[in-house]
Amino acid sequence: MQRIGFVGWRGMVGSVLMERMTAEGDWKGFAPTFFSTSQIGVAPPKVGLDAPPVMDANDIVALATQDVIVSCQGDEYTREIHPSLRKQGWKGIWIDAAKTLRMSDDAVIILDPVNMPIIEQGLSKGIRDFAGGNCTVSLMVMAMAGPMKQGWIEWISSMTYQAASGAGAKNMQELAAQMRVLSEAVGTLATDPAANVLEIDRAIRSAMRSPQFPTQQFGAALAPSLIPWIDKGMASGQTLEEWKAQVEANKMLGLDPQIPIDGICVRVGAMRCHSQGLTIKMKRAVPLDEFEACIKESSPWAKVIPNEMAATKEQLTPAAITGTLDVAIGRIHTLKMGPEYVGAFTVGDQLLWGAAEPLRRMLRIVLER
Ligand code: HSE
Repeated sequence: MQRIGFVGWRGMVGSVLMERMTAEGDWKGFAPTFFSTSQIGVAPPKVGLDAPPVMDANDIVALATQDVIVSCQGDEYTREIHPSLRKQGWKGIWIDAAKTLRMSDDAVIILDPVNMPIIEQGLSKGIRDFAGGNCTVSLMVMAMAGPMKQGWIEWISSMTYQAASGAGAKNMQELAAQMRVLSEAVGTLATDPAANVLEIDRAIRSAMRSPQFPTQQFGAALAPSLIPWIDKGMASGQTLEEWKAQVEANKMLGLDPQIPIDGICVRVGAMRCHSQGLTIKMKRAVPLDEFEACIKESSPWAKVIPNEMAATKEQLTPAAITGTLDVAIGRIHTLKMGPEYVGAFTVGDQLLWGAAEPLRRMLRIVLER
């Protein structure tokens, strides 16, 4: 029976992974061991399979007894532990949510509904490192893999609207705290039909600019505002988040030549759905019904939403998509720049297809081989 080690299973992505594995009845046919950097020796979580007490996630010898390690512990952990494990000859499969290994020649970026042949090729070549993609990239590719693989696309500009969860659990809490402060600042004015809206606006402005406004995590107000900067800056003028779009999406789909992809990544006050406004330059004008059919056929999760007001409000918002596996894409229409320019908008839950789901499915692929 294969031994599967889980690291980082208490964190946000790890918890979603555990929930999804339970929902899909995945806890069977293997021997789990749970590792932790802080809670060593405590009882393992109850998943319906026997497991030893929680082991030390920094114990290379214990980790090396596993056939597969699934890590949601983060970049720093992978940077430290993965090379040590490999250096001492560990030949197991490492499945990771972190960015660390994604662009390595020895790793495949996993998103099996749209790149199963690349995963299979990797496995048969003896690749042993499998990394989930950046959440924004995976969600764009879930929506756009069909047309991208057809060779129809010359370039994509992606302007993102990224949720607080992408920045971490504490950031989600800070967004809620900001909402609370704003609600308290506005008080009953929010529901008083006689209220002066400029008074409401002043209350919000003064609350969000107050030094007491909770901004420790984001470094700026988010709830009544937005932040057009995600991750580190780069010499190119992009942020690291923006740089990932082209390199990861093309690697994920094995595209050569690459499709240029770039845009501006923006943090908005959504909880866990990343949205993206896409400008797609096609190599030639493709009829929109053919374009939409290609998206629908790409996976059961890519949902094309009609370019109509009611459908858009009902089905193409973070409120509609959050907590579901659907990756919705709508507002599909030809842009005024010319017949080869298509506009589209896509929304997906960044903790599901953007993080935990590709890992869960990769573990199954490995177990079912
Ligand atoms: N870097 C992403 C974000 C998280 O900040 O939203 C998902 O990779």
